[in-house]
Amino acid sequence: MESFKSEAPKLSAEEKLNLLVEFGTRVSSELRLDKLLDIIAQQITKMLDVGRCTIYLKDVEKNELWSKIAQGRGLEHTEIRVPLNGNGIISIVARTGETINLPNAYEDPRFCMDVDMVTDFRTHTMLAVPLKNNSGKVLGVFQVANKSDATPFDKKDEGILLLLATLAASAIEIAKLYQDVHVAQLETIYRLAVTAEYRDQQDTRAHLKNISIISYLLALALGMSKKEADLIKNASPLHDIGKVALADNILLKPGKLTPEEFEIMKSHTVYGGRILEGAHSKILQIAHKMSLYHHEKWNGLGYPKGLKGEEIPVEARIVTVADVFDALCVFRVYKKAWKTDDAYTYIVGESGKAFDPRIVAAFKKIYPSIRKLYSPAASYATKEDMETSSASDAQAAKNYPQQQNASESL
Ligand code: C2E
Ligand code: SIN
Ligand code: SIN
Ligand code: FE
Repeated sequence: MESFKSEAPKLSAEEKLNLLVEFGTRVSSELRLDKLLDIIAQQITKMLDVGRCTIYLKDVEKNELWSKIAQGRGLEHTEIRVPLNGNGIISIVARTGETINLPNAYEDPRFCMDVDMVTDFRTHTMLAVPLKNNSGKVLGVFQVANKSDATPFDKKDEGILLLLATLAASAIEIAKLYQDVHVAQLETIYRLAVTAEYRDQQDTRAHLKNISIISYLLALALGMSKKEADLIKNASPLHDIGKVALADNILLKPGKLTPEEFEIMKSHTVYGGRILEGAHSKILQIAHKMSLYHHEKWNGLGYPKGLKGEEIPVEARIVTVADVFDALCVFRVYKKAWKTDDAYTYIVGESGKAFDPRIVAAFKKIYPSIRKLYSPAASYATKEDMETSSASDAQAAKNYPQQQNASESL
């Protein structure tokens, strides 16, 4: 992450101290890594009164250091990558943990001009310090260039930059941790959802992915924010989590369920509700509403509670449209796959009956994108076969969950 200065204010000692306090406050309140790196680079540019500040972070897996270009020739947000074992300044500082201070960068053979070239910037003086955490581990490198008074960086500058690096390091570590936890949370949710679905689905991953995408597009088409739509996207794979509680003889029954069996089937909503009851995270709270209420109908004739209209949480009203559309389009042990356009006609016909008319209107808007998802060339590779499925496919489908069981346990 790098920052260029736009104006060059001269700062008093007191102003610098204020900046230091501001730096500490701002970096400790930002948990998004990208934003945090932006803030740090901007603050350092201001505090050290330099032309540019670039933050490189270690990518341990790839054995590289990376940064993002902040300005220059339309390359904003492009990543710069440097090998960790290279011979450039950044690599050396990252490897040795030592500070490098160049009064004239272009005269030093270790200085690599690539970044200057792509950003249309001329580095004169340059200072690079390691970004170390509390236990001394190097997380990356801070690099600043061109003091506004054109003098070389001195010992005091080195001290200030090292101090800021220490402050920044802990904030960066926390943000990375948070990001990892968030990614782990999404992965766990997804794997949990796969567990619930894989017994009765031909293609669990495509099914979950498509329901996710449809729910996300519906949320956006309804005017929800990207953030809300993301939560809905990430929660939707869990809507049928309650199916884990159903016995095979019901869930996998090849034919029609008896009324008694269907009563038992309905309980997957209640089980899902119980599994996710009292969840702490936003995603799981939404998943809770989805799993409990995704079989409620707009007209009040759904289950488990027979809620009506807006009594049904909007997240559940959204996922139900995605769920039914997808269920119709694919093969199930108890039904053939419908043609995509027939499924569309069914959804539209249920406006005001099973589904919220506003959501059906949104569905109509996004249908061209959805239709592409279900084209034979897309994720459902075997969809064409399913559409022409015969009685023998029912037998094949019956064997499917067992086969998958076997391969999953390998
Ligand atoms: P599912 O297979 O994921 O289907 C979800 C919902 O999609 C169904 O909820 C229903 O609203 C809609 N849907 C699926 N297939 C059809 C269809 O061929 N025609 C119409 N009009 N709608 C369809 P529903 O009915 O509450 O069922 C919930 C779950 O119960 C289903 O999830 C499935 O796992 C199971 N199920 C329902 N009917 C049968 C059945 O006759 N045999 C078996 N083995 N399972 C069934
Ligand atoms: C390097 O010397 O490794 C990179 C120099 C730069 O980023 O300007
Ligand atoms: C989110 O993923 O945005 C929310 C996560 C949480 O609430 O724990
Ligand atoms: Fe369901």
